[in-house]
Amino acid sequence: MNDPVFLRACRGESVAHVPVWFMRQAGRSLPEYRALRGTGSILEAIADPALACEITLQPVRRYGVDAAILFSDIVVPYHAIGFGVDVVPGRGPVIARPFRSAADLGRLRDLEALDIAHVTDTVDLVVKELAESDTPLIGFAGAPFTVASYLVEGAPTRDFGVIKSLMHADPALFERLLDRLVAITVTFLRAQVAHGARALQLFDSWAGSLTRDEYARFALPATQRVLAGVADLGVPTILFGVGTGELLTLMSTAGSTVLGIDWHVDLDEGRRRAAKPVQGNLDPARCLGDAALGVAAAREVLARAGTDVGHVFNLGHGVLPSTDPAVLEAVVRVVHDEGRAGVR
Ligand code: CP3
Repeated sequence: MNDPVFLRACRGESVAHVPVWFMRQAGRSLPEYRALRGTGSILEAIADPALACEITLQPVRRYGVDAAILFSDIVVPYHAIGFGVDVVPGRGPVIARPFRSAADLGRLRDLEALDIAHVTDTVDLVVKELAESDTPLIGFAGAPFTVASYLVEGAPTRDFGVIKSLMHADPALFERLLDRLVAITVTFLRAQVAHGARALQLFDSWAGSLTRDEYARFALPATQRVLAGVADLGVPTILFGVGTGELLTLMSTAGSTVLGIDWHVDLDEGRRRAAKPVQGNLDPARCLGDAALGVAAAREVLARAGTDVGHVFNLGHGVLPSTDPAVLEAVVRVVHDEGRAGVR
């Protein structure tokens, strides 16, 4: 009954106000983040628990959001097992020796607790700091297809040509790759919950590059196995991808508690397709103007969200780096004041 509104909305329960948080809230647009971060690699910042804890808490203090998300990255477990990942500023994850053949399967060993001690140490620190306000921490991982797209392509891509060639040319090898990623992802997520994360988000950011047939064959089964692998933990799970309008009915069968809706789909239509609690879906670009423009855009989303239970307000993808924090502060206020979904 007294659970935080974020957890209640995830479970489709009534809330005192509509909860809100922002994907990529930790970092990016915050000047206090840039001041702390300096110019080192993001992977070094993630490896420093005191620093990563502080970056996780900055947006909670600044925005008054209803959940924290761990300052980490979807490539962290693969960096931790020595796959050879770097994150290049302004570009994203780059792999020195991309996954191309069965010989590369041996480079994807199981994740052990010690490999990610820096992550679980950060979770410990954050959970302690959030105890007083009872703000839940969201743990996360990349979904197998999206992680595979980085490991196989070797760098961010627009056309997904290398991974699509691999999956169609050698589906058995692709299957074995996904098996490795499922095991690593389940271990990574379970560790975060064991240390106090109270919800989990699975980022299948690039699932929208797939057709429905491809999604059903090459992405959904592995995602289902990841979600089944954490189901006994009893924490709500959120599955999110970009450009997934045509995939939402399939994604809603993956087993997550909540389905993330990106901004291409009107939220009322997204709710129909998801048929479960949803998270979303303000276009991050509509937060690049002044606060009044951001608030007007947020009101459009609130109108589409309606009054039924089961809405977690968020952007339709991550905060854009040039966003003025004052706009996000104003969005939080209007969601809390005017959101009606499940408010009793
Ligand atoms: O939500 C949060 O604020 C928590 C932290 C978080 C980061 N990455 C930190 C980060 C989360 C949830 C992620 C997830 C992530 N990482 C995704 C899925 C979310 C999405 O956007 O779809 C993906 C695809 C990645 C891989 C990745 N890491 C990309 C594409 C980039 C962008 C490169 C850039 O510089 O713009 C990163 C780097 C990254 N991860 C940054 C942050 C704060 C920015 C770079 C930095 O500060 O050095």
